[in-house]
Amino acid sequence: MLILGIETSCDDTCAAVVSERDTILSSIVSSQHGAHEAYRGVVPEIAAREHIRLVGPVIRTALEKADLYLGDLDGIAVTNRPGLIGSLLVGVSVAKGLHLASGLPVVPVNHLHAHIRSIPLSNADLNPPYVILLVSGGHTILFRVNADSEACVLGSTRDDAAGEALDKAANLLGLGYPGGPAMDSAASAGDPHYIGFPRPMLKTPGFDFSFSGLKTALAVHLAERRTTPSKEEINNLAASYLEAVVDVLVEKAVSAAVETGVNEIGLAGGVAANSRLRSRLTEECDAQGLSVTIPPKELCTDNAAMVASLGTWMLERETSTWNGFDASATCRIERCRTSESRIRK
Ligand code: KG4
Ligand code: ZN
Repeated sequence: MLILGIETSCDDTCAAVVSERDTILSSIVSSQHGAHEAYRGVVPEIAAREHIRLVGPVIRTALEKADLYLGDLDGIAVTNRPGLIGSLLVGVSVAKGLHLASGLPVVPVNHLHAHIRSIPLSNADLNPPYVILLVSGGHTILFRVNADSEACVLGSTRDDAAGEALDKAANLLGLGYPGGPAMDSAASAGDPHYIGFPRPMLKTPGFDFSFSGLKTALAVHLAERRTTPSKEEINNLAASYLEAVVDVLVEKAVSAAVETGVNEIGLAGGVAANSRLRSRLTEECDAQGLSVTIPPKELCTDNAAMVASLGTWMLERETSTWNGFDASATCRIERCRTSESRIRK
């Protein structure tokens, strides 16, 4: 089955062609960073207008790279929730237009489920159950993927997402936009033990997170200083802050696996591209005898290959085909029932 994926939920315009669910024939990502840089964050209206400008050429390039025409495909998958509504509407409208022109079936894909799909997409031998730590700009969620492949939520952030916390810290430290990658490179040159920032909710039972207090701790530290931090101090602050975020993420993910009786963890979402998080989770899983799947960085940040792969899975099961679906800024994801989330307790 040959599926075209379209992803426009935030500020990356993405299209990909995937064959037989797991073979990526092409994956094109056009980042809008330049358009948002001056505002130090994503401006929703600019994002929507950039998607309108970029989505046609990006789809065309994805088809050309895969050496295919629209008529060669078996279906189209498009992200329709959650995300910036103006951005989502561009992808959904284009997918509906392509359906009208070609008659191909279109499946609406949940962006969070697509990130979850990046785990089996990069490890074909993986079998559920497993735990997934999804860390992105808008979400920080621990999922348990059960034996029937259904994903349920074990815990999530009560305020800021991990990516948002890194983006805001980068702003406070004057590291520019996009913040996550800037924190990654500054932190790699700094001392993670320079300052002992708080580890929010680390010892709180359960699998919820909170990162807004950590951002405040950094803001207070900077406000109390009398001098502007040197480049070396900024690197040390970035490293110490990132270490606090990583400590909480890694410890909660490992406990989620141990406590729900699974021996595999997958890491997904844009923050999964972070070097320190990737190495610390790998080390901790090794120490605990757990397996870990961390996709290549280009499958962690937003991309349409994960959307096309999930769309293929849905079309194979005929769970949803063209039915005039809508776009939605939010989505509901079920919490795990007690028996699933506390198997060992
Ligand atoms: O999944 P994603 O591309 O978009 C959303 O669904 O939100 O995640 C974007 C987030 C942003 O907060 C960005 O700063 C962060 O992922 N990010 C990183 C890195 N690359 C992207 N954070 C830390 N280190 C990175 N290397
Ligand atoms: Zn995402």
